[in-house]
Amino acid sequence: MNESMMNQVAAKFHAKFGKPPEFIARAPGRVNLIGEHTDYNNGFVMPMALSNAVWIACRRVSYPIITFYSTYFDETKGFSLKNIFKETHSWLEYAKGAAWALLSGEDGKISHVPKSGLECLIDTDLPMSAGLSSSAALEVALARAFTEAFQLVWEPTHAARLMQKAENEWIGMRCGIMDMLISTSAQKGSALLIDCQDFSMRPAPLPSGTSIIILDTGTRRALSESRYNTRREECEAAAKALQLSSLRDATFEMIEQKKLKSELKKRAIHVVSENLRVLKAEEAMKQNDPKCLGKLWIESHQSLKNDFEVSAEVLDTMVKLASEDEACYGARMTGAGFGGCAVALVQSEAAETFCKKLKVRYERAMPVTCTIFEAKSECGAELFQHNTLAL
Ligand code: GLA
Repeated sequence: MNESMMNQVAAKFHAKFGKPPEFIARAPGRVNLIGEHTDYNNGFVMPMALSNAVWIACRRVSYPIITFYSTYFDETKGFSLKNIFKETHSWLEYAKGAAWALLSGEDGKISHVPKSGLECLIDTDLPMSAGLSSSAALEVALARAFTEAFQLVWEPTHAARLMQKAENEWIGMRCGIMDMLISTSAQKGSALLIDCQDFSMRPAPLPSGTSIIILDTGTRRALSESRYNTRREECEAAAKALQLSSLRDATFEMIEQKKLKSELKKRAIHVVSENLRVLKAEEAMKQNDPKCLGKLWIESHQSLKNDFEVSAEVLDTMVKLASEDEACYGARMTGAGFGGCAVALVQSEAAETFCKKLKVRYERAMPVTCTIFEAKSECGAELFQHNTLAL
C-alpha cells in the first residue's frame, strides 16, 4: 500500500473540509496480462492489480447527502440519497450508480434510505481512460467507502458484481466483470486467473526475472463505449448462431461447421483462441517460461487486431517497436482497445533501458507523447480507519 499517497489524500481532505477524514478507501486499477474481450463471453482472463489506484477519504455527516470533491476535475458535486436520479453524464454518475447498486433491491428501487451521508475527497494516480480500468477502480473505491458508511457487509465478489451492475445499468457501458473483480480481489505479487463463468480465481505467478511494463500510447479511446457494446452484441449473435448460451462453450470445429457471417466468425475465433491462450499462459507462468508467455502475448495481439478488430495504429506501432527489443519477450494491447495502453514482458535487468529506448522510438514514429512505466502489483480494495492514518 502506498502510504505517502494515503497521507496526501488525508491531508487534502483536511484542507478541503476543515477536519480529518474518518476513513479512507483505496481500489486499484489493473493491467490485463492476457484474456481480452473474453470476460463477457464467460471465459478466462488474467489481470493484475496495480499500485496506481483511486483513493476516497470520507467523513460522515448527519444528513443523507453525499458531497464529493474530485482533485482530478477540481470540482465539488453531490447528490441526495433520498432521491438518486440520472443526469447528464459526468463523473458524479459513477458515485450515484455505485450508491444505487448497493442500496437497491432486484427491482432497482431503494427501500431503505440511510439517515446519514458523507463528505468525500476523491484522488487518483491512475491514468484516466487509458485502458487501466480507472472507472472500475473508482466504482470499487466508492463501493468500499459506501459499504463502510452504510454499515453493509463487504464481500469482494458480491461488491464486484454490484459495481458491474452500476456500470452496465447506470452508466450504460456493457462491460464484463474482470475490472471490478480484480479491483476487489487481487493478491499482491501475482496476477489472477479468473474464470468469468463461475468467478473462481487462482493466483498466477509472474515469471522470475521479468518486469511487466505498461506502454501508454498517449491516446485515449474515442467512442469506445459504443464500439465496445457492438463487439459484445456480435459475440452474442455468434453464440446464438452456434446455439450456445455463450462463446465459452464454442469450439473451432463448431465455428467451421456453421456458416457464420465472416465478421461473427472472426469474433468467435478470437474468443475461442484467446481462452485457450489464457490457459496456456497460466501453464507457462507455472513453468516460469517467459519466452512462451511472451509468444502468447504476441499471438493475442494479432488476434485482437485481425479477428476482433479492436486495436489501433498507435497500439500496433507500440507493440511492434516493443517486441523488436531483444529484452522483450512479447507485448500486446491491454484492456478494451481502440487506443490506451499496451503491456510488455521484459527482462528486469534491462527494463529501465527498454523503457527509455522505446519512448524515443515510439515518439519518432507517432505524433504523440507516450508514458512508459513498470507496473507494480498490489492487493485488492482496502479500507483504512482514522486511527490507522498517520495524521
Ligand atoms: C474493458 C471492460 C472489461 C473487458 C475489457 C476487454 O476493460 O471493462 O470488462 O471486457 O475491456 O477485455
